[in-house]
Amino acid sequence: MPVVEINSLTKTFGSFTAVDNLSFSVEPGIFGFLGPNGAGKTTTMRMLCGLLRPTSGTASIYGYDIEKDVDEIKKIVGYMPQAGTGMYTYLKAKESLELFGNIYSIPKNELGERIDSILELVDLKDWKNSLIGTFSGGMKQRMALAHALLPNPDILILDEPTAGVDPELRRQFWHYFEGLRDKGKTIIVTTHYMDEAEACDKIALVSSGKIIGFGSLDELKAMVPPENSGGLEDVFIYLTKGGGG
Ligand SMILES: Nc1ncnc2c1ncn2[C@@H]1O[C@H](COP(=O)(O)OP(=O)(O)OP(=O)(O)O)[C@@H](O)[C@H]1O
Ligand SMILES: [Mg+2]
Repeated sequence: MPVVEINSLTKTFGSFTAVDNLSFSVEPGIFGFLGPNGAGKTTTMRMLCGLLRPTSGTASIYGYDIEKDVDEIKKIVGYMPQAGTGMYTYLKAKESLELFGNIYSIPKNELGERIDSILELVDLKDWKNSLIGTFSGGMKQRMALAHALLPNPDILILDEPTAGVDPELRRQFWHYFEGLRDKGKTIIVTTHYMDEAEACDKIALVSSGKIIGFGSLDELKAMVPPENSGGLEDVFIYLTKGGGG
């Protein structure tokens, strides 16, 4: 059974269609959601997390409907919003994770250890008693990832998790994501970095709210003429320009 099933999902803002009749499913593994700025990626992810109501269409995660079963969805999905929005900047790193852990009912005797190991992973353990508001952009980004990982969710929806993160840590993040995949988790991730996208098991290419390419890297390469299939970047540019025309 697919982890996520999306059927004709549509979101309009006034007369503007941000997500246009999307249908696809996601199997366990790392799923890359790729597309130019404004393609509708964040809007789609927010709908999948139950944060935004679709205008029409349906989607489900492990069979839970994203509109009817919002409480269940929130339990199984870890969401990292784009650019670390929505964090409590007046809390210290550790305090914020403790608060979050309490919201998710993580047992007290496990919470401290989990917070330490996650702060280690995102390379912020020396900052656990510092105010999030004083962090650099990349540190806030790492903090946002820490929050998404804390409840150990079965599915992670990560909106540009490595934007503004330095190359070494970026590599560490991906190493960790691959480890989660090997444990059977599902990660839906958006990125503008082609090397990251190429590391995904499956990729959906979206443009103007529509799917313009779907499959593994090799399947996407096979969609375009050989001279445009050198790497994902070539494929991406070819397909987002409407097939070379
Ligand atoms: N609340 C809103 N009201 C009006 N328009 C919106 C709203 N949210 C998103 N949009 C519009 O919907 C389109 C898709 O936005 P979205 O944030 O989903 O794009 P994206 O693919 O995530 O882009 P990026 O790569 O820049 O993050 C954009 O044109 C955006 O301006
Ligand atoms: Mg976005």
